[in-house]
Amino acid sequence: MAVDVLLGLQWGDEGKGKIVDVLSPDYDLIARFQGGPNAGHTLEFEGKKFVLNTIPSGIFFENTMNLIGNGVVIDPVALKKELESLKGAGHDLLAKKNLMIAKKAHLILPTHRLLDAASEKRMGDSKIGSTLKGIGPAYMDKTGRNGLRLGDFTLPDFKERYHKLVNKHKYILQLLYSEIIDFREQEKEFFQALDLISQFPLVDSEHVVNDYLKKGKKILAEGAQGTLLDIDFGSYPFVTSSNTTTAGACTGLGIAPNQIGEVIGVFKAYCTRVGGGPFPTELDNETGEELRFKGHEFGAITGRSRRTGWIDLPALKYAIMINGVNQLVMTKADVLRGFEQIYACTHYHYNGEVIDYMPYDIHAIQPVPVLQEIDGWQEDITGITAADQIPANLNTYIKFLEKELGVPVKYLSVGPDRKQTLILN
Ligand code: GDP
Ligand code: IMO
Ligand code: MG
Repeated sequence: MAVDVLLGLQWGDEGKGKIVDVLSPDYDLIARFQGGPNAGHTLEFEGKKFVLNTIPSGIFFENTMNLIGNGVVIDPVALKKELESLKGAGHDLLAKKNLMIAKKAHLILPTHRLLDAASEKRMGDSKIGSTLKGIGPAYMDKTGRNGLRLGDFTLPDFKERYHKLVNKHKYILQLLYSEIIDFREQEKEFFQALDLISQFPLVDSEHVVNDYLKKGKKILAEGAQGTLLDIDFGSYPFVTSSNTTTAGACTGLGIAPNQIGEVIGVFKAYCTRVGGGPFPTELDNETGEELRFKGHEFGAITGRSRRTGWIDLPALKYAIMINGVNQLVMTKADVLRGFEQIYACTHYHYNGEVIDYMPYDIHAIQPVPVLQEIDGWQEDITGITAADQIPANLNTYIKFLEKELGVPVKYLSVGPDRKQTLILN
């Protein structure tokens, strides 16, 4: 038995949550391995819609266990809200006993959120466009070896260590950003939320996943953000602060690399990005607006408008290479309906050359996309249920992508609902 990994191949919001939900009945354990409440994973079924932030997308199936891994950063306040909202909708995860949390997961403190906001404010126009959830500062404390882990909450010196870290944050806020903020209310919420969260089984994720493997059980590691937001291989510095790639599943759960099985890469039939940073195929025009409108491209957590553009094959090839993707999932194919022509970027014009890879300094020198025209399709595909109902032009688009990318498209998503998913290969 191996651990399969599902992750996004673009700049996030590819539809990862929906696809994890669709695949969940086939797995015994769904494990989130990185990121935090910066993620917004949308699931729709039986006329209901859920947006999950820190909680894995396998919680809606009876026989599937869920794990928040050590590589995740947890904001107890945000997680409590998420749990309460699920409970309100009839999904009490404490009662269902289907969620475990890694002791080694680091905590996002109220002051991490303040630091995130102060840093973004100070950067002005060159800001990252962070979700302001405190992700960057929390991971900085983790790698700076100052962080607090969820398991620390049960230790006698937790409050002391908390105040030591908060005093450092207050010092930075005052010195660098001249900010003095009263956060006593948030602090109270933080401790109340920790009381709730520590009622879940707090585990060593490395032992849990390896025990599952030994017992022959099936595990799916759920990625957040997207490959192009990876801290090492994304469009740095316009990235998030964790490894969103397959390697992140190893460090974020405690899995040896030779235990990785299938790597399922999810991509949209076009491309979107939220926040700042390079986006070579961006359509800052009426067509981009049409894509945004038809695809409801507004952030699942921040409500921000997503930037939109055509599919970017050099970027996708790069993401496939870094992750070892061997199965593709194409989502939002229905959104491209109605265009006479659609376009795929096959190469970039860059520094007087034509290249088919993502250049190092993509953040500084915007490559100009070389676009291939493809005939669009006019048929409504939101109700199709089998591969032989796919319109000819969409089939041609899929075959073209498979040839360019060298990986089969195994699933096709034709709408947000769980049922609007086709198996192709
Ligand atoms: P994630 O962060 O990768 O899980 O993706 P998000 O949930 O942030 O964004 C994807 C959005 O597209 C959500 O609103 C989904 O409900 C929706 N969605 C997913 N798949 C499809 C699809 O095939 N077609 C359409 N129209 N919407 C989809
Ligand atoms: P899901 O899992 C899209 C982007 C932010 C910003 C950059 C850094 O739903 O795909 P951060 O708050 O992480 O410090 O922000 O990363 N970003 C996302 N964009 N989907 C996400 O998650 C994202 N998580 C972070 O917009 O540009
Ligand atoms: Mg999202």
